[in-house]
Amino acid sequence: MVVEGVPADRTLLEVLREDLRLTATKEGCGEGDCGACTVVIAEETHGRLRYRAINSCIRLAHSVDGMAVWTAEDLAAPSGELHPSQEAMVRCHGSQCGFCTPGFVMSLFGLYQNTGGGQGITRERAQADLSGNLCRCTGYRPILDAAQQMGALPLPAGCEVDEAATVAALEHLRRSSGPLPDGRPYLRPDTLRSLLQLRATHPGAQVVAGCTDVGLWVTKQHRRFAQVLDVTGARELRRIERYPNHIAIGAAVSLADAFDALVAERPHLRSFSQRFAGLPVRNSGTLGGNVANGSPIGDSMPLLIALGASVVLMRWKKTRNGGQVAHRELRLEDLYTGYRTNVMRPDEILAWVKVPRPVPGELSRVYKLSKRFDDDISAVCLALNLEIADGIVRRASIGAGGVAAVPSRARRTEASLLGQPWNEDTVMAAMDTLRQEFRPISDMRASASYRQAVLVNLLRRFWLESRGATGINLENLQEVPA
Ligand SMILES: Cc1cc2nc3c(=O)[nH]c(=O)nc-3n(C[C@H](O)[C@H](O)[C@H](O)COP(=O)(O)OP(=O)(O)OC[C@H]3O[C@@H](n4cnc5c(N)ncnc54)[C@H](O)[C@@H]3O)c2cc1C
Ligand code: FES
Ligand code: FES
Repeated sequence: MVVEGVPADRTLLEVLREDLRLTATKEGCGEGDCGACTVVIAEETHGRLRYRAINSCIRLAHSVDGMAVWTAEDLAAPSGELHPSQEAMVRCHGSQCGFCTPGFVMSLFGLYQNTGGGQGITRERAQADLSGNLCRCTGYRPILDAAQQMGALPLPAGCEVDEAATVAALEHLRRSSGPLPDGRPYLRPDTLRSLLQLRATHPGAQVVAGCTDVGLWVTKQHRRFAQVLDVTGARELRRIERYPNHIAIGAAVSLADAFDALVAERPHLRSFSQRFAGLPVRNSGTLGGNVANGSPIGDSMPLLIALGASVVLMRWKKTRNGGQVAHRELRLEDLYTGYRTNVMRPDEILAWVKVPRPVPGELSRVYKLSKRFDDDISAVCLALNLEIADGIVRRASIGAGGVAAVPSRARRTEASLLGQPWNEDTVMAAMDTLRQEFRPISDMRASASYRQAVLVNLLRRFWLESRGATGINLENLQEVPA
């Protein structure tokens, strides 16, 4: 389908509901929180489709150009028979007012497609995949039941996705779209080189990646962008590269994929990774966007600081022969200069996040405290990464979020640990230093005194966990049968 004349900052939800009159997709919050607007997109990778549920309310419409998009209108068979993701909701009584239902059904559809027809879905997987959908009437048990039962239902004729035909149609679309003019409102170049050139020649264009921050500037602050430069088309920036001592994550890699790569290196990060927003936000949002946005309560930065990550900034440098790519690399904590300000030049792009691989003897943990367990940003975040040999702290690297104007490194606390025996006295002294190192503020998420107290207690929790204590962590609590 070709839709003409769409402004650069029009959302996918606006195009669906207002331009195409496809009103099955609902608008609840308009800020990526409730999931009522969930749709499923797919792109071809290695000849197969990969399905991702996303929030259409904060996604810019142009960004799905060249992708397949499914809405709740697309699921039932022409005969009217329901898709298993819909039928299971009916059978399990998963809907009351129905406002959230199209969004739940779309998340279920994405899950169905990514699990070979809803096979082997555990309760945990169902919860993770529905983490971006809120329901205020029904309660989650019947909806989770539907997720686990849809795989047992027959798929009516006409409901199946013809992957080969869809891949072929996308390929045809790609080939038939000719070269696009430079001055168009939505720029989504497919190479890093042209991205950097466009950044240099269009300094007024709003840079976006997954739009999970910028989308809210459009829907909530009513900001308008005449021209947008989208980094997510640049194929180099969509790669994760593994080297002997580090992994390099392209700035356009989704949060979901970036966290998968980090969890593969350090499995204990799994629970933290699933607490970053909900799945639809992680499917759209990028690691590069989180770092570039530089929110003091952004979740990936304390972790990345503790792991010793660096960032690579790139720009197009004019030379007598035309130009060339210039780059510089800096430690992540040195990127920030103040509240949401950083050292990036107006013509620079954040291109890579480089994360050192684990070393023997590394002891690392990250703790996030938020008002809600799922789909909520941190009030306080503390990430610790120590190397302990022969009972002595040989290296200490600590990142903190929610306690200063920028994501910060707790240098004084690190210094108080370095060279000391890893024992209770050292930890108590480090807790004192950490208490004095930051002066958090009070806001709607937490009071200053709560933040300070909890930050220090998280260091104590780290110490106790390093001694093998497990009962102090909610995740380890076992349900006692009635
Ligand atoms: C419901 C909801 C829940 C959320 N929960 C969390 C959470 O739990 N933890 C958390 O940390 N965040 C959370 N966020 C915030 C957001 O999802 C993240 O900050 C996300 O990583 C932003 O990435 P993006 O690709 O969407 O960035 P965008 O919104 O596209 O861009 C954000 C900023 O970064 C700039 N930018 C993006 N890419 C680049 C680049 N390559 N080079 C230079 N500049 C660039 C843009 O110009 C813009 O200023 C949440 C957001 C929503 C809507
Ligand atoms: S309308 Fe609530 S997430 Fe989009
Ligand atoms: S059925 Fe009403 S909000 Fe979910």
